[in-house]
Amino acid sequence: MSEQPQCECPQRRDFLKEFSCVAVGASIGLVPVAAGVYSAMDPLRRKASGGEPVRVTTIEALPADGVPMKFAIIADKTDAWNKYPATPIGAIYLRKISEGKVMALSSVCPHAGCFVDYRKDAKDFFCPCHNSNFSSDGAIKSGVSPRAMDALDVEVRAGGEVWVKFQNFKAGHPQKLPVS
Ligand code: FES
Repeated sequence: MSEQPQCECPQRRDFLKEFSCVAVGASIGLVPVAAGVYSAMDPLRRKASGGEPVRVTTIEALPADGVPMKFAIIADKTDAWNKYPATPIGAIYLRKISEGKVMALSSVCPHAGCFVDYRKDAKDFFCPCHNSNFSSDGAIKSGVSPRAMDALDVEVRAGGEVWVKFQNFKAGHPQKLPVS
């Protein structure tokens, strides 16, 4: 029986050659593209500033009778591509509850995010958007808010400095869910 001559298959060889050229070229070309995408996405990967304790005032500056006082929170703010130093990022109420102890409440209404006012005469917090009413410790008195005003972590440091960890929470939920 005679052996059949092996086919050299030039078409197959050409295809493999072309395929490897395309694969190598594509992988080389993808490196700068991936680097560009990675670099463009960098601000989105970076964690936004915020959540770190911020010095707000001193305990001596707060009314001794426990009346809440409103303060702006000033901190560095970072959005997707920019950083804004020393920018107002929110507002809180501070209330001296005993010697050396302070309570911090977000000024944002948990119902739908309006700003809550403190009414000195009624000694309560009031949200003008849908008339929710909170006692001076933030508990719900009446209205449609699904939860009490959001308390924030507060620390009185050496020298009576009041530091607050500012945080926003999702509106409309019965639970206090941080906004990331
Ligand atoms: S937003 Fe405050 S009661 Fe609706």
